[in-house]
Amino acid sequence: MANVALTGLKKSYGPVDVIKGVDIAIEDGEFVVFVGPSGCGKSTLLRMIAGLEDISGGTLSIGGRVVNDVPPKDRRIAMVFQSYAIFPHMTVRENVAFGLTIAKMPKKEKEAKVAEAARILQMEHLLDRRPSQLSGGQRQRVAIGRAIVREPAVFLFDEPLSNLDAALRVDMRMELAKLHQDLKATMIYVTHDQVEAMTLADKIVVLNAGVVQQVGTPLELYHSPANLFVAGFIGSPKMNLLPVTVEGVTSSSVTVGSPDLGVAMLPFRPGAVVVGDQVTLGVRPHMLGLGAGTRLPGAVQLVERLGNETIAMLRLKSGQEITAALGGDQPIRVGDRIDPGFAPTAAALFDTAGIALTRA
Ligand SMILES: Nc1ncnc2c1ncn2[C@@H]1O[C@H](COP(=O)(O)OP(=O)(O)OP(=O)(O)O)[C@@H](O)[C@H]1O
Ligand SMILES: [Mg+2]
Repeated sequence: MANVALTGLKKSYGPVDVIKGVDIAIEDGEFVVFVGPSGCGKSTLLRMIAGLEDISGGTLSIGGRVVNDVPPKDRRIAMVFQSYAIFPHMTVRENVAFGLTIAKMPKKEKEAKVAEAARILQMEHLLDRRPSQLSGGQRQRVAIGRAIVREPAVFLFDEPLSNLDAALRVDMRMELAKLHQDLKATMIYVTHDQVEAMTLADKIVVLNAGVVQQVGTPLELYHSPANLFVAGFIGSPKMNLLPVTVEGVTSSSVTVGSPDLGVAMLPFRPGAVVVGDQVTLGVRPHMLGLGAGTRLPGAVQLVERLGNETIAMLRLKSGQEITAALGGDQPIRVGDRIDPGFAPTAAALFDTAGIALTRA
């Protein structure tokens, strides 16, 4: 097992900078998830760690050793792709054993390793089948099995579950969490799926346009996003972002106003924020409730009933639409006027540059 350190890591294709100086420290045994919009550089970063892409600048070390120029097969990594990349003409057993066969491992030892991987992944009964006789989830298990038998120091996963249907994704997600608990290996995982990121990660790295926006635990990112990008990216439904004007500051509060909100004193250190600044108030849909707090009155435009919660889209006085995720089954209807409220301590506030203010 091994830690992985990315220091000032850069990747350019000709004049195009794709990865623009990335610093990430991944601890031994940690499960780290890379998220970010399409094209932000997640796969490129993973492929650089795997050794499938050259590094244009900075250093990459695995287990304390700089591996910039070490070929993939000597990096002690194994990668699992979205497309499985398993061989159709081989049985499951042969596919799982493939890397070991290439490495000319003695037959007995190889069989033992395949048997162990099959046990971990609960696919002993599938070993003599060919990939065409397997479901998508089973094929992905074969790809993961092939990675396991190599006993890599670091597992790399690039959207491994995105070809699976919703129910199977949930099952496989739990299997991956168990696999990580069993193997205690370092795992780096790329996904588009919020729930996968939130549930699997010890630590999430949010990327945008080749730049790290924030690194933190899932709940750090959820409760204290560093900037507007992370605030909008993490959390579903998305955080409501309302333009407000600063009307007053003290060392431990910022008073903001808007036609929708009236005036609200929020417990933040003002930093460089001054009276008159146009700043952004962030309120998560789940932090709005029909009870106390600072109110955001509006007219209901749409209601989604999920049983355990009621999601309401409201149009505020200014015309801005917000989302409120209200607990339980609420008897509200389109056209109703409601005024959900939030606790000021639960809100987020972003300065004119979109950087989060610190809570007081
Ligand atoms: N060989 C290449 N030459 C030029 N640009 C490339 C090359 N490969 C990738 N890129 C660019 O690098 C950027 C990052 O691509 P990458 O595949 O890492 O994105 P990603 O975050 O994995 O996106 P997705 O979520 O869609 O998989 C993209 O803008 C892409 O167009
Ligand atoms: Mg990708």
